[in-house]
Amino acid sequence: MLRELLTLALTGLMMSFSAACPVPTPTTTTVPSATASTASGGTDRLVFCHFMIGITSNRQSARDYDDDMQRAKDAGIDAFALNIGTDPYTDTQLNFAYESAAQHGMQVFLSFDFNWWNAGQGGAVGAKVRQYASRPAQLKVDGKVFVSSFSGDSVDVGAMTAAAGQDLFFAPNFHPGQGNFDAIQGALNWMAWPNNGENKAPTAGRTVTVADGDRSYVTALKGKPYVAPVSPWFSTHFGSEVSYSKNWVFPSDMLWYDRWREILALGPRFVEIITWNDYGESHYVGPLSSPHTDDGASKWVMDMPHSGWLEMAKPFIAAYKAGVTVALPFIHEEKLVYWYRPTKKDLNCDATDTTMSGSPNNASGNFFAGRPNGYESMTDEVFVVALLKSPGRVTVQSGDQPPKTFEAPAGISAHRAPMGIGQQKFTVTRGGQTILSGTSLKNIVDTCICGIYNFNAYVGTLPPPATIDRLQPAGLTMLSQGLKAACPINTLGAST
Ligand SMILES: *[C@@H]1O[C@H](CO)[C@@H](O)[C@H](O)[C@H]1NC(C)=O
Repeated sequence: MLRELLTLALTGLMMSFSAACPVPTPTTTTVPSATASTASGGTDRLVFCHFMIGITSNRQSARDYDDDMQRAKDAGIDAFALNIGTDPYTDTQLNFAYESAAQHGMQVFLSFDFNWWNAGQGGAVGAKVRQYASRPAQLKVDGKVFVSSFSGDSVDVGAMTAAAGQDLFFAPNFHPGQGNFDAIQGALNWMAWPNNGENKAPTAGRTVTVADGDRSYVTALKGKPYVAPVSPWFSTHFGSEVSYSKNWVFPSDMLWYDRWREILALGPRFVEIITWNDYGESHYVGPLSSPHTDDGASKWVMDMPHSGWLEMAKPFIAAYKAGVTVALPFIHEEKLVYWYRPTKKDLNCDATDTTMSGSPNNASGNFFAGRPNGYESMTDEVFVVALLKSPGRVTVQSGDQPPKTFEAPAGISAHRAPMGIGQQKFTVTRGGQTILSGTSLKNIVDTCICGIYNFNAYVGTLPPPATIDRLQPAGLTMLSQGLKAACPINTLGAST
């Protein structure tokens, strides 16, 4: 138990309550490996995406999962890792998810969140696996039911397998030097962000890169399959308005682009996108409109769509599954994907920020007052990724900064420009013709939006999406709790 707590403290990524912290689990479908190979474009590689069941307790039927299943499948994701705690609604929601997945040709698998399950529950974990093992959407790898976890290094794998009543493909989030890697078939590394080795942003002289994590896992696995993490961002900002206060960032700026390139070069058997819908830690790539409850994250998630990141991942995913390192042949539609924080990091919001008052719970050691811990590691820049079939010229006009122009090659290229206060305009030209052009729906401002420090990213695309992605009422229920400033609801696209 102490060891488990230590692991949790070190990984520190778990949410403090199960509603906010569903554990992603892999999806299972009874796909024979030959089929899987074909589906993966000639390799046996699979892409998973961590999905928090803990914030989808409000879903009423399998239909409420349909849009997520279809969108993920369209992006090339093979399976959702359904992160589960021990909440009373878990089975209801798992049944909906397995049913919807089966109807959409998606796969799912269970990912046990050991913030809520404890390591002594191997038998109960195995029984839960058995409950879903024969569902049509269950992911099987090498003919075995696939199972994963968040944390759980000391779970009794023997008791688990016995209770499951069959051989499993168990690829948990064990940690090198802690879990028994001889007892498992593969392992998931959760640390998708550069860090200091203690679940916070790197500091001077203390940097653990994501690639450092890859090397530790590959060494510990001794040839067994590795589930490599890829995540676009990390920012969380819970104050005393909730019991699970936590407030830090990991450096994320161009991470989504850099990490996909690392993934292509590394070529692991499995990749897990972290996450589809963990809004609280700002690493969602699913839509804001995906039905979910509000754990208090709406303060930094409202008006901050991330779907452009999923669009950007598509050619990377296709290249990964084809076993090649160049994504150019998989660009089917030319796009510009851009993102930025809505305010500069030196903006002072202390007078109205939610972390500056009350008596926040710091049992986790993850609470800090004011700007999120690690904020210095983020740069005041606008990040632009061009997905082009042939070379083009990208121009960024960020507010009051002079315009910046970049020559972008064919393929996927990354560019960055200093943040300027005001409107954010982007153009792509080729041979004097304008290919793409538009103004972001989100300005960079020099005021505290809703009164708080918001280090989440706004992600836009050119061409823009057909509809504006918005939080639904259930995802906004805690918006005003603890706020000390006005906070108009769903302002994107509203006339100003
Ligand atoms: C919370 O705990 C961490 C770890 O001990 C510490 O670094 C941090 O300063 C604490 N936060 C506050 C506001 O005291």
